[in-house]
Amino acid sequence: MGKRWRKVLPLAAVLLAMNSSIAVASADQSELIKRGEYLAIAGDCGACHSDEGKAAFSGGHPIVSPLGTIYSTNITPSLSAGIGNYTEQQFADALRKGVRGDGSQLYPAMPYTAYATLTDEDVSALYAYFMHGVKAVDTHPQATALPFPFNLRFSMAAWNLLFLNEKPFTPDSAHSAEWNRGAYLVNGLAHCSTCHTPRNFLMAEKQDQALSGASLGTWYAPNITPDSQHGIGNWSRQMLAEYLMTGHTSNGATAGGPMLEAIDKSFSRMTPEDINAMAAYLLPDDKQHGTAPSPEGLTPVRGDDTPQALSKLSRGESIYRNNCASCHNLAGAGLNGLPALAGNPVLDKPNADNVAMAVLDGVWPEHRQGMIGFRHELNDSQIADVTNYLMSDIAHRNVQISAERVAELRQGGATSPLLLMARGGMIAGAVVVVILLMWLLWRRRHQ
Ligand code: HEC
Ligand code: HEC
Ligand code: HEC
Repeated sequence: MGKRWRKVLPLAAVLLAMNSSIAVASADQSELIKRGEYLAIAGDCGACHSDEGKAAFSGGHPIVSPLGTIYSTNITPSLSAGIGNYTEQQFADALRKGVRGDGSQLYPAMPYTAYATLTDEDVSALYAYFMHGVKAVDTHPQATALPFPFNLRFSMAAWNLLFLNEKPFTPDSAHSAEWNRGAYLVNGLAHCSTCHTPRNFLMAEKQDQALSGASLGTWYAPNITPDSQHGIGNWSRQMLAEYLMTGHTSNGATAGGPMLEAIDKSFSRMTPEDINAMAAYLLPDDKQHGTAPSPEGLTPVRGDDTPQALSKLSRGESIYRNNCASCHNLAGAGLNGLPALAGNPVLDKPNADNVAMAVLDGVWPEHRQGMIGFRHELNDSQIADVTNYLMSDIAHRNVQISAERVAELRQGGATSPLLLMARGGMIAGAVVVVILLMWLLWRRRHQ
């Protein structure tokens, strides 16, 4: 009996020791997976890789690009349909270099130009999460089939040579740790620039105009530089943080479209520390209080409802009275907590696209306190009329929109000149693209 114990005890001790080291390893691992999950939220991987009504990260989400529709891929750890076979190095290369596991190039619809700054530690955490924290799903999403010459993935290698900056993030010691954290997030994982930075004719972000405002084809992502005339220089950090967390802030700014989606899925789920860091980076010079909405722009409420008076209304004004005033008030001053349009920053932009988009598709239409779109109630010229009424009579701006532009917005935006070029004589287009790429490369070499 005693003899047997003497044999078993050391074995039990060894087993016990092994067990606890496994427990330590898996505690570390689950910590890493949890961090990866948070980074996946900050990077909003789900916005593109998880499609409505389908399993998380199983892909198939259509991204309408001017060159045609690009479908996101399955990034669950499925061995047959996802990235289950990816090594950590291959995963890192997909995120930071735009190179797939099979060595071919990804389209920059995957924001690897922004993720290029990810640190090795963050890539490791993301890898742990996607390998061990995400459920494998074996469904193949719809494949991307762009027209020639854009179906030639290797042409993206030339594009990367020109436009991909592979430099990892290096902290700037002249600034605080908070500022640096903000810089890392804004320019990297949170990829604000993919929407807010204008692009050149080859679809690359114009680095010298970073965050200065860009059209996404339909919605316009406004200037978010600290410029006080065109950007958000009059916002306080507090206002910006509030906007990023909730989609609203005290100057009346309301997030709609893709910004609302990014807030809903990503920014509202980030830690207050990270949100404040982004605000500190974007507004290095904090205005403390920001500017309140100006009462300027309010037109007097016209109470005259006689048929004679009504017949004198412009087309835009009568559409406004019939469709909008019940929520936004006759003078656009807001009503019972519903948003004011007078003084609303959305009327202050270089174009009226976001007003027309809000009218077409609404703002958070499925939400209890949202606004339902008028896509089916109003035609293109009615939407142009009511938008122009808001711009001229409520905001006193001379920015206007045409019915043709509304028609384009309704269709999902204008097509790229690149595509028109390529379609108008396929080969000629391809040759032109290649020549332009070579010229740009030459110019860059000689600068
Ligand atoms: C703005 C949309 C978008 C976001 C955000 C995005 N992706 Fe992607 N991703 C894509 C698209 C589109 C593709 C496929 C591109 C192609 O076919 O060339 C892709 C491809 C990939 C691939 C290559 C998989 C394969 O073998 O096809 C990986 C890995 C990947 N993404 C991981 C991520 C991770 C991790 C995140 C978040 C940190 C992320 N993506 C965020 C759009 C996005
Ligand atoms: C997917 C595209 C997209 C991404 C990513 C994105 N934005 Fe936006 N953003 C928009 C659009 C579109 C609007 C206009 C929304 C509206 O007016 O309803 C907007 C509006 C804003 C505004 C309001 C500006 C104003 O003058 O009213 C701020 C501030 C802002 N974004 C900051 C950011 C920051 C900071 C990030 C990154 C952390 C970011 N955005 C990422 C598309 C995007
Ligand atoms: C049922 C109430 C309701 C009606 C009717 C309505 N709206 Fe709205 N509107 C809202 C709400 C609520 C919001 C803000 C949603 C939010 O805060 O998420 C909003 C937001 C807006 C915005 C700001 C969008 C942005 O991105 O900043 C504009 C512009 C707008 N409405 C214009 C109109 C016009 C023009 C009409 C008439 C054609 C109209 N609304 C009809 C409730 C309404």
